[in-house]
Amino acid sequence: MHMSAILVASNRGPVSFTLSEDGSPTMRRGGGGLVSGLSEVARGLDILWVCAALSDGDRGVVRLAPGGRLDEAGYDTGALRMLDIPPATFQRAYNAVANSTLWFVHHLLYDTSNRPQFDARFRREWESYRAYNEAFATALAEESPPGARVMVQDYHLALVPAMLRGERPDLRIAHFSHTPWAPPEYFRLLPDEVAAELLEGVLGSDHAGFLTHRWAGSFMDCCETVLGAKADRARRTVAHGGRTTRIGVHALGVDGDALWARASEPDVESHMRALRELVGDRRLIVRIDRTELSKNIVRGLAAYREFLAAHPEWHGRVVHLAFAYPSRHDLPEYREYTAAVQRCALEIEDEYATEGWDPLILNVQDDYPRSLAAYRLADVMLVNPIRDGMNLVAKEAPVLSPRSALVLSREAGAAAELGEHALLVNPYDVSATARAIHRGLTMPEDERARRGVRLAGAATALPPHRWFADQLAALQ
Ligand code: G6P
Repeated sequence: MHMSAILVASNRGPVSFTLSEDGSPTMRRGGGGLVSGLSEVARGLDILWVCAALSDGDRGVVRLAPGGRLDEAGYDTGALRMLDIPPATFQRAYNAVANSTLWFVHHLLYDTSNRPQFDARFRREWESYRAYNEAFATALAEESPPGARVMVQDYHLALVPAMLRGERPDLRIAHFSHTPWAPPEYFRLLPDEVAAELLEGVLGSDHAGFLTHRWAGSFMDCCETVLGAKADRARRTVAHGGRTTRIGVHALGVDGDALWARASEPDVESHMRALRELVGDRRLIVRIDRTELSKNIVRGLAAYREFLAAHPEWHGRVVHLAFAYPSRHDLPEYREYTAAVQRCALEIEDEYATEGWDPLILNVQDDYPRSLAAYRLADVMLVNPIRDGMNLVAKEAPVLSPRSALVLSREAGAAAELGEHALLVNPYDVSATARAIHRGLTMPEDERARRGVRLAGAATALPPHRWFADQLAALQ
């Protein structure tokens, strides 16, 4: 059997399956920043992608595929092995540890007077997180030819580098964090032994990558504080337990040409016509997100509401298109958050809608071509996360809508590159966000165009294939 010399491992893979009533599987592309960046890269290279089966549909398909290899079962996925991890183990690893704990820690999402609480139950969940990481390490060890390069992705798989090194010291291993990294005083909410195991897990790699200097710096701070490791900030290395790990900063950007090509297809154009028909010649404030706690959608709506209250002259002349796609609905916090977004949208409707004017269109159905159409029509893009590893929406928007103004949270990784030409906001400051929306709408055409060119340039500086090639080169 052919073995790829480059392997990628991530929780979510490039595709996922749903089973229809007659039991036949339908394939869909995966969502989120990690998958959109990597899918493009994987298509052009000889890479084996290892991911987890996420749904019953995935499990159904994978159980019939020899060795879990979907490509060898005839699916047009590129070389792909899906791991059928026992559902209960998977749920505890993905929902309880990765998404309810590590995601909350790195995005500073806890309401700390109540949570977190690390008890005996958490210890069992942590065991599952370990087992799930072991399953990946074992599969990668099986699939890797001698000296292969293995690119491990994200907080779900923080323990894999150290586990894999234990099994296969010949491999060259990278880890990449697509999220922020928490500062030590917040990271240390985690039980001491868990905090140490996570850091040592990532340090099992030869190269640990981050999206910005800020997140890389926090990681090094944590290594020093929690492990007593020696971080050299100038050379970007961390020495611990007799090994040295290089720390890399790779600011994932977008492939402007590919994005334009996709956004010029007929399905997008027909959505553009439909949206235009819906909103007329009104100006458009657009946001596109997963319905994710860190994306700060509720405060974004509150800011729009405050903008409407302060500027009656805009009533009837502006529409806010808020696309908030379903995400992580197994977690109660996300279901409650989705309900809060809907409540807030209704309040705005009740307060401002008139016979002939709908001030807000909230769409909660995932529709990629429709999102691309919205980008192309935007006058103001609103990207206001509480905290975000990068935020690719902030980078896609200026490419597809070079004449729109970008209101951007200073806590998004993208602010490091785009901040100078965007309208930066403190994401907690609703009034300041409302003012930035107004400033975006009233910005003179020439200033908008000037900023737009610079934003698009910065957004496309490191397209996914170069972002990936740089990390591969760092493993040589
Ligand atoms: C972020 C994470 C990705 C994740 C994505 C979608 O971008 O960094 O690893 O895949 O969110 O989240 P989900 O839980 O749906 O995979």
